Amino acid sequence: MKSILFVAGEGLPFVKSGGLADVIGALPKNLVKQGQDVRVVLPLYKSIAEKHRDSFEDLGTFNVSFGYFQSVATVFTKETDGVKYYFIQHAPYFERDGLYGYPDDGERFAFFQVAVLEMLQHLNYFPDIIHEHDWHTGMVPVLCKERYYNDERYARIKHVFTIHNMAFQGIFPSVVLESLFGLSQELFNNGKLRFRDSISFMKGAIVYADKVTTVSETYAKEILTPYFGENMENVLELRREDLSGIVNGIDTEAWDPKTDKYLPFPLLNTQASKAKHKLALQERLGLRKSKDTMLVGIVTRLTWQKGLPLLIDKLTDVLSQDVQLVILGSGDTNYENILKGYEYRYKRRVCFYCGYNEELAHQIYAGCDLFLMPSLFEPCGISQLNAMHYGCVPLVRETGGLKDTVMPYNEFTKEGWGFSFTSYSGDDFLFTFRRAVDFYYDRPEDYQNMVKACREVDVSWDNSASKYIALYESMFQ
Ligand code: GLC
Repeated sequence: MKSILFVAGEGLPFVKSGGLADVIGALPKNLVKQGQDVRVVLPLYKSIAEKHRDSFEDLGTFNVSFGYFQSVATVFTKETDGVKYYFIQHAPYFERDGLYGYPDDGERFAFFQVAVLEMLQHLNYFPDIIHEHDWHTGMVPVLCKERYYNDERYARIKHVFTIHNMAFQGIFPSVVLESLFGLSQELFNNGKLRFRDSISFMKGAIVYADKVTTVSETYAKEILTPYFGENMENVLELRREDLSGIVNGIDTEAWDPKTDKYLPFPLLNTQASKAKHKLALQERLGLRKSKDTMLVGIVTRLTWQKGLPLLIDKLTDVLSQDVQLVILGSGDTNYENILKGYEYRYKRRVCFYCGYNEELAHQIYAGCDLFLMPSLFEPCGISQLNAMHYGCVPLVRETGGLKDTVMPYNEFTKEGWGFSFTSYSGDDFLFTFRRAVDFYYDRPEDYQNMVKACREVDVSWDNSASKYIALYESMFQ
């Protein structure tokens, strides 16, 4: 058995801004269940400090020298579900509102990454593997191999880097190599970290990690092409042998329809139970109560990635059908305003909840008949898995993890559990949406087949966690 340290910018049950947090909250837990020794390290953000610090154990303070700066960090710990979490505290960097998006993010995450490596020495805990996630942690393998290379305790560590989203790479001026990491400009000059006239944390990890993974098999192939590669496709091509895709699962304990603490009553595997949840949701949201009307749900960040332009373009056509619509999410203010307008115009038929609400998300999956996710690109996607698990049929664009997890319904063989379309086109989306509505009203038996099939899909982490274990082991053979 190998010891594994996950390093990430966010993770449940402590902090979440996107799907990354779901993965960090669930995969380590499952690996532990399968007998692995897994720990996780996160920054101690303000929201974590406010809610949890009283329950943390203080493991002491240590020096962090990063580039031109000398500073200190304190490490706290807490064990949850067999996973030991570490939290790096440095209030000026992390005890602010939110997680990312500050002008000094480069400095904040440079500090975090160096602090994580110094923490290993402070705790005298040197894992066999560090598993880094997304750009916030991409410099960890670079530091181990370029800065700590003559310290065997660091040099022997193997690195797995998981790409959750190619669209965010952590691009900073090349001067940060020296000023924040104490590394040589050579890493810019020789091209290893260079991205145009800057450096990219993500490129660092792609070049330096022993294995690179992403969160679905299809996305692993897609990012080798210019459309999805975000200008990194040629670098990824060089690592093709070490690049693989392992699809995400969901935390089936937190998402158990029978015991879910956010649902007003258990969700059983029957049509009547679904109808009861639909009526409760309509009541809560002020929609007209009607168990027979098709209720369509969307839970998303309101960004271009999630297909918002396409959706908004066709929203009037969508609402010309006999459906109700609930949207939960926030993001781009332009989209928020448009959706507020729709809610105003379609009283008792459209509800837009601007923001995030975990409880409502669970109730939407439980009460809705159809879930829309027409993403432009989708490394994996978690919401379609939640929807399926709660018997809400997904309608997706065939990209990345959506393609790998949603099998389109075949009306002849009766196989499959969703609706999908290929090209990023409003008309294709609308055609597929109308098809879903027709199935719902005119072929209720087929629709029920889909609902049932959705609930039977294995969306747990069991399979994928075993694949990660096999990958970890392969590095030591
Ligand atoms: C990112 C991706 C999403 C993926 C998640 C977790 O948020 O956009 O597709 O499911 O990371 O891996």
